[in-house]
Amino acid sequence: MDIRFFDALASTNQYCELLDLKQTEEFTVVWAGSQTAGVGQQGNRWESAAGENLTFSLVLHPRQLAVADQYRLTKVLSLAVCDWLSEVIGDAYNVRIKWPNDIYVGDKKICGILVSNHIAGNVFDTAVCGIGVNVNQTVFSSAVPNPTSIALLTQRQYDLRPLLESLLRSVALRYTTMAMVEHLDNDYLSRLYRLHEMQPYDFQGTLMRAAIEGVNRFGHLQLRTEQDELLTCAMKELRYIMPHNDV
Ligand code: BTN
Repeated sequence: MDIRFFDALASTNQYCELLDLKQTEEFTVVWAGSQTAGVGQQGNRWESAAGENLTFSLVLHPRQLAVADQYRLTKVLSLAVCDWLSEVIGDAYNVRIKWPNDIYVGDKKICGILVSNHIAGNVFDTAVCGIGVNVNQTVFSSAVPNPTSIALLTQRQYDLRPLLESLLRSVALRYTTMAMVEHLDNDYLSRLYRLHEMQPYDFQGTLMRAAIEGVNRFGHLQLRTEQDELLTCAMKELRYIMPHNDV
């Protein structure tokens, strides 16, 4: 695996976007000690204290994956992070995937994933997979809604390189199972945050209670409302109402 380390970059995802991606070998990793303009979902910033956390991007060429199945890669990445995190912090913690691409421990976010897909005609050519994991940071700005970190959970500090290497091994292992759809879907459901729990949401501006039933092939979340109506939600249509703050 080719790991390219930089003390500081604006954003590892942005850096990868400037590479000649077609020629960039699968599993090239761009890792930054700090990011000055880390990018999060929906145009948000990804805040991460310099030198304390894992912020990296991985270049993959999932050319065997049909374009319509792109969300399966997000499932693979999310499961790989969960597998790895459970090993690092122990199985006693509730490590969950909060749809569409956050990793939670309990009701707190520990990792965010940002995948940018490059489609060439009908072929899924390249994915730039950005992953940010809170590792050693214990103090967060109040602008970050509900963060936690590995150090906050375990009361220890970690060397980042071995952690990154073990996380990449976990991704490589899950990536080999990409064609095992049923297996992936079962594992994904068993890790899904709030699965089958009646919980509050804001769907297209309307507050409601609903229970998550699953995620379809296209990555849309399926929920059943208290009134027994089945909703299929795209990312921007749904907001989780959280116990202590709205996210
Ligand atoms: C989110 O939860 O909003 C997604 C966060 C993704 C953050 C990672 S850190 C490494 C990579 N580079 C970026 O600029 N963003 C991703």
